[in-house]
Order: sequence, then C-alpha cells, then structure tokens
Amino acid sequence: MKSRSFIILLLIGTVWLSACKKEDNGPDKNPGVFISDNTSLGKILVDHNGMTLYFFTKDVSGESLCEDGCLDSWPVFYSDNLEIDSQLNKDDFKAIVRGDGKSQITYKGWPLYYFINDTKAGDVNGEGVKDIWFVAKENYTIMFADGQLIGHDGKKYKGDYTEGEEIIQFFVDDKGRTLYAFKKDTKDNNNFTAPDFSNNDVWPVYEVNEVKSVPSQLNASDFGIIDVFGKKQLTYKGWPLYYFGQDSETRGKTKGVSFPAPGVWPVVNKLTNMAPDSKAVAEAYFNTNLKSLITNTCVSCHAGAHSSGTRKYDVFANAYNRAEDMYLRVDGKQGNLMPKGGTKLPQDDIDKFETFKNLAASN
Ligand code: HEC
Repeated sequence: MKSRSFIILLLIGTVWLSACKKEDNGPDKNPGVFISDNTSLGKILVDHNGMTLYFFTKDVSGESLCEDGCLDSWPVFYSDNLEIDSQLNKDDFKAIVRGDGKSQITYKGWPLYYFINDTKAGDVNGEGVKDIWFVAKENYTIMFADGQLIGHDGKKYKGDYTEGEEIIQFFVDDKGRTLYAFKKDTKDNNNFTAPDFSNNDVWPVYEVNEVKSVPSQLNASDFGIIDVFGKKQLTYKGWPLYYFGQDSETRGKTKGVSFPAPGVWPVVNKLTNMAPDSKAVAEAYFNTNLKSLITNTCVSCHAGAHSSGTRKYDVFANAYNRAEDMYLRVDGKQGNLMPKGGTKLPQDDIDKFETFKNLAASN
C-alpha cells in the first residue's frame, strides 16, 4: 500500500510540474482541481469540468469514512494525471488508498468527493447536506468536523463532557486541527495567554489575519479578531479560539477536552453560547461576593455625608470604577488602610477585592 501511494504521489508531482507550463485554462484542461468563483459560495474547488468537489466532516482524521452506500451519492474524486490550479499549492494534494482499495485525492488532508445531485458546472447542491457535507475550499478559516471526543487521558467524552460515546460536531481549522474555547475567558477577552507567551505552547492562540471563509451554515458576523499582546486571535461569539499543544498539530485529535479537567477547554460549535461580557461577570461576582461585605464594613462612612456619591461603593458602577483603589486600600498597599481607623479585613475578604479588581481590569 505504502509503495503504491508513493508511486501515485510521484505521478502527481511529475504531472504537476509539466502542467505548470500550461497557462491555458481552456477546454483542453487535464483532469484536475481548479478554483471557481461560485455565485452563492464564493471561491470553491472544482474539477476540470467545473464540477464541485466536497469535504466530508467525518473524514477529519484524513481517512475516508464514506463507504459502501455513501459512495453512491458521493463518488470519490481521483485522477492519476492531476493538473492543479496555479493558485493552489501542490503540496496540499495527496493520493490515498481507501479501505476498499480505491484511490482518492485529498486536499489539505480532506478526501475529495463529487455529489450525485450536481448535474452541471456551478451546482453546489451538496452544500450543508445532513450538516456533514461541505464544498471544498482552499481558504476555510473554520471547517466542521464530526467525531468522537477522546481526551488526553484516552477516555471518550460526550458533548456534555461526561464519559461516554457520542459523535458530535466541532470546529477545526482548514487542516482539520481542533479549536477550543477557555471557560474562564469573557467576551473578546483572552484570560489565559501570558504577555510573554510563556504558556502559548500549552494552548496556542489560533492566529488569523482575516476571516476568509467559513461554512455557509455559520454567520461570518459571529467571528472576530482580537489583539493579544500583538498576536491576532480569532474569536467565535466572543470566545477566543485556541489549539491544544498536545494535539501536536495532528488533524482530528481532541486531547484538550479533558485537560486539565473535562469541560474547562470545550470544543466549539454552532451550539456554543455567546461568551459572557466581562462587565456582566464582574457584576455577578460583585453581587454574590462583595456587596454585603461593603455594606457591612464600608458604607457607614462611604455612604455618609462626608463622601461624594461616587464613593458609595455598595453601588456596582462606583465599585467597578474604583475596583483597583478599593483593593489597594483594603490591602494597605496604598493610602490609608480601609476600613479607616479599623482593623485589616481577613485575607479571605481581601482576596475577594482582588478577584473583583482583576475582573474589572480585564474589560
Ligand atoms: C470609618 C470610615 C471609613 C470606613 C469604614 C471606610 N472608609 Fe474608605 N475612606 C474614608 C475616608 C474619610 C476617606 C478619604 C480619606 C482617605 O483617603 O483616607 C476614604 C477613602 C477611601 C478610598 C479612596 C477614595 C477616593 O475617592 O479617593 C477608597 C478606595 C476607600 N476609602 C475604600 C474603602 C473600602 C473598600 C472600605 C470598606 C472595606 C472603606 N473604605 C471603609 C472613610 C472610611
């Protein structure tokens, strides 16, 4: 099998080299893959006759899982005499030998297929079929994968991060590498990455200069780009997106779902909710952990006649604006220790002021 794919690769390489000289994109095209500007879906990959080519989300690991009856609807694309559009990179094309012995061309690791209900050039009737078939593109910023989550602990996880078997959909990059969100992040806020990137090998930020293309089922407006100490990171619904270092840039791996514990770094998909706004998170924390503490230990003076309105720290907006001042005062780091004239608060309470300060600062 190995030597056979090697020969096929050699063939493709040779054909590609000779095809390079051909500028003409006319009707005498060799069998191959070209970019076509589709009226509804933008730049898509087509064959030499303009017939649309597709990716199958279940193939995320690089092996074709479309077998038997599936192939009746989704015939494999193969040519041993492959010409490649000059805008495409020949290294992105490989030939695989399938489980059934047939050969198939892959692009960026995705096996390529036709759809039986496409009858003429420009047809894209396979787009979104069963939520698992999507037109092949060269510029996906996000693609879908469907598979079983398997953590770094080797255990299988369901979509709710309990152990068990379930095929779920999740976002990957154009090469099938899994993307994750961090539970402690807030809207457009990366709360993980260190300024010197010392932890970027653990959860590398998904760096993207622009959102080029996403499957048509997604809203391009749900994606954004944030600046993280000079790196540009893709966000979805406000969640910054990361790779997991231990996935070793290997397509289809999902080791991050159990690290350091299940659910801390979930995969991302259409069901993902909007990331919470950091101010809303800070307000919830204030109401639960600080408001009564401030009422009991501060407002006797800070709501009193000697204080201006903005020093009534039991009001969230005031506390939010002065979160750092409050922390520095109760910790005795700056100015007169608060509560003024009293004893220093227990460390537990000082920690609450610190947490609140950090939540407010991340906005
Ligand atoms: C006994 C009265 C009293 C209590 C109790 C008190 N403060 Fe104060 N606080 C003051 C006075 C008076 C000032 C202004 C003089 C100063 O800066 O020392 C002040 C100033 C401050 C300032 C600086 C405000 C500014 O606008 O310059 C902060 C922040 C602050 N207090 C926080 C707190 C917090 C938080 C608590 C509760 C843990 C607290 N204070 C409890 C009397 C009090």
